[in-house]
Amino acid sequence: MVGKFVGVGVGPGDPELITVKAVKALKAADVICVPKSHANKPSMALSMVKQVLEERAKPPEVLELVFPMTKDELDVKRLWAENAVIVTAKVDAGKVVVFITLGDPMLYSTFLYLYRSLREGHPNVRLEIIPGVTSVTAAAASAKLPLAERDEVVSILPSDLDSGLIEETARHADNLVFMKCAHRLKELVPILEEAGFTENSMVALVKRCTLPEEKVVVGRLGDVQNWDICKDYFSVAIIKRTELPVDKEKGDVL
Ligand SMILES: C[S@@+](CC[C@H](N)C(=O)[O-])C[C@H]1O[C@@H](n2cnc3c(N)ncnc32)[C@H](O)[C@@H]1O
Repeated sequence: MVGKFVGVGVGPGDPELITVKAVKALKAADVICVPKSHANKPSMALSMVKQVLEERAKPPEVLELVFPMTKDELDVKRLWAENAVIVTAKVDAGKVVVFITLGDPMLYSTFLYLYRSLREGHPNVRLEIIPGVTSVTAAAASAKLPLAERDEVVSILPSDLDSGLIEETARHADNLVFMKCAHRLKELVPILEEAGFTENSMVALVKRCTLPEEKVVVGRLGDVQNWDICKDYFSVAIIKRTELPVDKEKGDVL
């Protein structure tokens, strides 16, 4: 049996949004790798695939790969290089190792660290990637706001970017998607207004999309300062140049 390493996107939260191909991979895996930021913190990705794994006659080995949230690039590289050695030993023993990741593996994912370590340090390991429904597209569906139509430009940004870079990017975009955003949404308002977005530009903040605790708020950029924002890491904001229709006299959204 020839082993391989498969990065599998398990979608934004709702287990029904796991693709058929991902389910097949989860059912065929010998080992399921679960990325965790703390050893005793539950994994959201693992809880999403719980039912699929429970349907298996023989449960797979679950391998938790812990990676502390550090911005020290050297530390991160060293840690993932160590994880790559562990994974390679399993693959060399003929195992199919599936790494589960939220949303899509190729979008701001922890999977990418391991993927790079494997490519660079263990080039003989067979690698496959199964795409998933991203939180970006899921948030747009929950908020019922198109990400882009006709010739519109959409940009996806991590909200911790330098303000000048956000402003510059926003100048060239019709629609913006901010990841990891809830803690900084209010601070983004003046930056976007500087880039030509107006107080009536549409904003949607989607927290924990597609999960039972999902919360969607849609309104005007000018109202964001008054929103009571829960600073949940699992939040996506979509901001559109398009203005919400507003009653010119009362200032209310129509
Ligand atoms: C490390 S990135 C992972 C992105 C993921 N690979 C994807 O394709 O959506 C984490 C960020 O994704 C977003 N995110 C992931 N799942 C989400 C969800 N269910 N609801 C809202 N935002 C989510 C949040 O912005 C969070 O800060």
